Formats: sequence, C-alpha cells, structure tokens
Amino acid sequence: MTSEKNSFYITTPIFYVNDAPHIGHAYTEVAADVLARWHRARGEDSFLLLGTDEHGEKILRTATANNSTAQAWTDRLVHDAWLPLLETIDIDNQDFIRTTEDRHKSNVQRFIQKLYDDGFIYQGAFKGAYCVGCEEYKNKSDLVAGTGDYQGQEVCAIHSKPVEELEENNYFFRLSQFQQPLLDHYKQNPDFISPESARNEVVSFVSRGLDDLSISRSKEKFDWGIDIPWDNSHITYVWFDALLNYVTAIGYGEDEAKFRKYWPANVQVVGKDILRFHAVIWPAMLMAAGLPLPGQIFGHGWLLVGGEKMSKSKLTGIAPNQITDGFGSDAFRYYFMKAVNFGQDGSFSWEDLSARYQAELANGFGNLASRTIAMVKRYFDGVIPSAGEYSASDKKLIAVAASASSKANEAIDRTAITEAIISVWTLVDELNNYITTEEPWVLAKDESNRDRLATVLYCASEGLRALTVLLSPVMPKATAKLWAALTAGTLGDLAEQNISEAGSWGQLANPTVGDLDALFPRIESKDE
Ligand code: MSP
Repeated sequence: MTSEKNSFYITTPIFYVNDAPHIGHAYTEVAADVLARWHRARGEDSFLLLGTDEHGEKILRTATANNSTAQAWTDRLVHDAWLPLLETIDIDNQDFIRTTEDRHKSNVQRFIQKLYDDGFIYQGAFKGAYCVGCEEYKNKSDLVAGTGDYQGQEVCAIHSKPVEELEENNYFFRLSQFQQPLLDHYKQNPDFISPESARNEVVSFVSRGLDDLSISRSKEKFDWGIDIPWDNSHITYVWFDALLNYVTAIGYGEDEAKFRKYWPANVQVVGKDILRFHAVIWPAMLMAAGLPLPGQIFGHGWLLVGGEKMSKSKLTGIAPNQITDGFGSDAFRYYFMKAVNFGQDGSFSWEDLSARYQAELANGFGNLASRTIAMVKRYFDGVIPSAGEYSASDKKLIAVAASASSKANEAIDRTAITEAIISVWTLVDELNNYITTEEPWVLAKDESNRDRLATVLYCASEGLRALTVLLSPVMPKATAKLWAALTAGTLGDLAEQNISEAGSWGQLANPTVGDLDALFPRIESKDE
C-alpha cells in the first residue's frame, strides 16, 4: 500500500474535545503510530496526522455547561489533555490539526463551494432524528429501546440516550448519486475497506441504497461551526467539516505540491463506530470533488469494559497515564497491539496487562537482552565475538530471524499489526530456546569450547539485533536503549536501520557492548 512517491500518509480520526482522552482514543493513535513508524523504518516518507474535532453542538453544549466559550474550552482541552497524550504514549506525528484553525476553515469552505458550484449540493427540508452524542442523523432502524430513565423511549444504540427531533431547511449533499460508484470501487479494490467484516457491513449498507445527506445546520439553533460560504445563516455539518481535515492538513487548496506529495492517504485508521462516515460519505465527497480515494479505510474494534465499548459518557473510561505511570509507554503500546487482535474487539484487564508485562516483556524479551549482553561482557570482555562455522541449531535460528522479519513486514502491508508482532515474537521465543539449549555458561567452563562459545554469543547478539529493529516501531524507548548497548553505534542509529532488511543475517561487526539497565523493571504492586 505504498505509493510510487515513496510517501506513506496515515491518519486517525480527529477526536472530539468535549472531554479528556481515554485508552480507547490512545489505542487508535498507537496503532497508527506503529504503522507510521514501521513505514518510516523502511525508508519511506511517512506522515502521521492526528488532530481534534472541535465544532458542533456536542462541544458547544459541554463548554456552555462548564461556563466556558467553545473556543476557550477547546483550547484548554487541546493544551491540557490532547497534546500531552502524545508524549504519554510516545507518538511521533508529523502534524496535528485542529478544525478551528484557519488553514482548515478556509479550505473547508473552498471544498464546499466547489461542490455547490458543480451541482452536488442543493437546498431542501430536513425532518428527522439527530443524536448529539454521535453528531449523526439517525434512521428509525438505528434506534433501540431505552432502559432505566429512558424506559419506553427510543434511544441511540451507542449513547443509550434519546435522540432529538430536528426540522430544518438545510443544504443537502447528493450522496444518493454515489451508490453505484461506491459499490464499483469496493468491488475493484477489495482491500479498500478492511478487515473483511467491516467491508461486508459497508457493502450491504450501501447496497440497500443511500439517502442524500444534510450537510448544514441553521444558525438559528447554534453557530459553533464553519459558515456555509454562500449562505451565512448556516454552518457546515460537523462531520462534513471534520472529514476534510485529512486533506486540509496536507495543503488542500493552498499547497498543491504538498497535497500531491501525500494525497491519497495510504491508510486511514478509524474505530468501527465511525466506519460509515469514512467508507461511504468520505469517499463520495472525494469523488464529487474529483479527488482520488485513499488506499484503505481500516476499521478497528473496540476496547470493551464489562462487554461494552469503553466510553467517557458511560463513565467507563480509563486515562492512558493510569497505565503508563506504572508500566511505561512501551508496555502500553505493546500490550494493546498484541493482546487485542487488530480489527477485533478486546477487553482490557489489569491482570492480563500485568501478566503479559511479566511473562512477555520482562522475562521473554528484557531478560534475553540483559543475559546476552552480560555474557558478552563476562566471556569476551564486552566485545561481540565473530562467528565460526554454523551448526544446525545456529542455522535454525538464522532461518527463524529471516522468516520472522519477512512475515512481519508482509503482515504490516495488510495492516495486520497483531499478526506482525506475533511473527516477531517467534524470534524472541527461538532466541530464548537457543540460549537454553546451547548453554553458553557450560561452554565457558572449558577453554576448548572457546570457538563454539564465540559463535553462540555472536548468534544470540545478532538475533537480538534483528529483534531490536523489528520491535522499534512498537517499543521505541526500550529498543533505543538496547540498540545503544548492543551496537555501540557501529551500525549507525536505530532510525537508520531498514526494517525490511532486519532479518538478513550477519550485520554486527564486533562492537563493544555498553551497559543496559533492566528494560522492563519489576512493578511494585500497590499493596506491597
Ligand atoms: N470526532 C469524531 C471523528 C471525526 S474523524 C473525521 C469522533 N471522535 S471520538 O473522539 O468520539 O472518537 C474517535 C475514535 O476514538 C473512534 O473512532 C475510535 O477510533 C476511538 N475510540 C473511542 N472509544 C473507543 C474504544 N472504546 N475502543 C477503541 N477505540 C475507541 O468520533
């Protein structure tokens, strides 16, 4: 999914700033960051865009309820909560767009004006239901029976709250015209919507027919949004405004060279709750504007609490730093990418996190690294020795390194992050197994085994080198420390290593290893 221009443009949804982030939001950001870092490690010009969705009734109401203006409220949340999150979970993004910025607002207007001039927008009467929580017009079939306070009423299936009845004279986008072009695109580009369950859902939704979409709201109700350029008694529907961030951030309407460099996006990662906006409305908007469609819309699953989508509005949100304060950002990133099969739902539990931290990170990977380096120090004065002739077990290790690397790289091309990590972990397991069977500490007891000991420690170190490169997109901090200790800079920076070549054997050339603190220190539990 790499464009010929050697650029890799990846986006996440832009987040509502009605509240502070929880681990569900952080999950999307980490996934996109792992993919972006992986492509960067292949030498591509990888561009990760994040941002915040700041207009609309939901945010205005929250601000008002907190005695704030919408602008002051969003400024505060962006600076106090959403930007600091990037550090908390170690995100390397190239831009962060806010929909209240001029570069966004003016080019949203440019885009809408073009669609209006080209006949894709008309004025009409809207009557129907609207969920402010989703900022979405709802059909009867989207509603479910309410419980508790809302017993006897129909409520939004996601927010479990009643919807509002709207009757307005609005502008409509001719979405219905795009039913067949969308279905054709899905057919000709089977990976456009991924995973397959997401694709099937969208294809069956679109096959049932599409209604035109109201894309404006009357200012008589509220005015927190972008003016419709030809009629300033209306503001742009917040989703129509928000979706355009993916192009306004890279210069749509004002920096043609930059826009052409990055658009179309290679992968757009979204939660499955907002798949239809991204796989139906968004491509139809692009088609209407004559712009190419992104390579892939990937709909990931939800982090669940008590079997339900974790959400702030249902008071089930966990703040990311509740996890990173104790476990660190690397463990956070590793845990969610490995424990929740990317594309499916998964439940978070502290027990599972602690157990995996101990077994997989501290004992599996961290211990392997510290043991290997310690043995190089003890038996070879800290200089990684050269290898002699390879035995059958060495050859097996070499083969596992090659296949872990090629399988992981191939999985990333399918946005299969969990599968990629599982492939890399075959090398962790093989290295641990190799050291246990080769018993370098036994070889070290007899000087006549010196050559064999050298080969074993070379192989262990070289395997660790491959592993460090392969894990760098997932755990940037731990791998940077390990890289420094293992290579002493003889191979250049970790960032200069090409991850596609990670599995090609024989790269380490006798560096003097450095000190390595425990990569995943023991976590004191609260009651100790
Ligand atoms: N502002 C819109 C998106 C506009 S994009 C043009 C929006 N924002 S949101 O803040 O409500 O949620 C954004 C995303 O957060 C979801 O699509 C999903 O990626 C992520 N998640 C929110 N809760 C989540 C979980 N419980 N689990 C996993 N991801 C979750 O929708």
